[in-house]
Amino acid sequence: ERSAKQKMLEAYSQVAQMYHYVLTSTPYGTEAVKYLQKRGFSQQTIKEFQLGFAPDSWDFITQFLKRRQFDLEQMVEAGLLAKNEGGRIFDRFRGRVMFPIHNSQGEVIAFGGRALDGGHPKYLNSPESILFNKSATLFNLHRARASIRRRKQAILFEGYVDVISAWQAGFSQVVATLGTALNEQQARIIRRNAEQVTICYDGDSAGQEATAKAIQVLHQAGCTVRIAPLPQGMDPDDYLKQHGAEAFSQQVLLQAMPVTAFRLKHLRGNRVLNDETDQARFIQEALLIISELDSPVERDLYERQLAEDFGLSLDAIKSEARKVYKQQK
Ligand code: CTP
Ligand code: MN
Ligand code: MN
Ligand code: MN
Ligand code: MN
Repeated sequence: ERSAKQKMLEAYSQVAQMYHYVLTSTPYGTEAVKYLQKRGFSQQTIKEFQLGFAPDSWDFITQFLKRRQFDLEQMVEAGLLAKNEGGRIFDRFRGRVMFPIHNSQGEVIAFGGRALDGGHPKYLNSPESILFNKSATLFNLHRARASIRRRKQAILFEGYVDVISAWQAGFSQVVATLGTALNEQQARIIRRNAEQVTICYDGDSAGQEATAKAIQVLHQAGCTVRIAPLPQGMDPDDYLKQHGAEAFSQQVLLQAMPVTAFRLKHLRGNRVLNDETDQARFIQEALLIISELDSPVERDLYERQLAEDFGLSLDAIKSEARKVYKQQK
């Protein structure tokens, strides 16, 4: 007799095939295919990522699993089905584009389901189960791992759509968290495969805040981090669709900044530094960030930059720096 885990894996595998079939080979999938085409996903990508569609039905997958003799209670636990207060079992995913989520061995252990334009909530994911430990899972790791090792670098995105877009555009060392902040476990998984991580989160304030947190978690895990800048309001998928792979490579990935440069940019934000008081305070805060660098050479480089930015003598910056660094100790 096979374990519950084996049964659930089998169900996920069969359901992923079924959703993919519905998308690509039935009239129920037509609208979703159009949606994916409009978003620029090729047929090959749809196939490679085994994207699917869950029809807008309360019992389509329930019946499918029943016919195949799966234990429906177990399927509720697996997160493929849901159960209401009256004990009635029904399809968890309805009218959604389905993104299979794999474990590191490449087995389907969960789904992300995206509503077509305008639906709410935008994303509905499988709940955690004995198969799916969200905080130990990175989207696309099983496909990206070889490339991450070879390039000694991982690129980290916020969304799985970003990963799929980048993959389609030829970037293979790409993974994403699953709608939560990057945690210690995920950072350790990345570190086991590569030391260098480029964070490329959405170009909005949520993305900036998430970047600041991910930097800490990745540093804790022993990673070297760079931050790839995106224009305000754009995410990697938007950028790739608008500007293409070459621009993404040249203007985003190759412009990735070391953490100190990112922190200084974040500190500056949109602050207007009108008078000397504002400027002096900003310089002190900047020096606090710079003071965290272990390398005197790197500190010197940033101090020179600061002097230049404010038209000050390097001596003035250096003497201010000494004061700030002393307070630090
Ligand atoms: N997410 C989620 N639930 C939401 C919104 C977001 O789980 N209601 C997660 C998803 O994993 C999503 C990621 O957070 O991929 C990033 O969110 P967002 O930037 O809003 O989505 P996009 O990936 O840009 O998706 P799309 O381009 O389809 O709008
Ligand atoms: Mn976002
Ligand atoms: Mn902030
Ligand atoms: Mn996004
Ligand atoms: Mn997006």
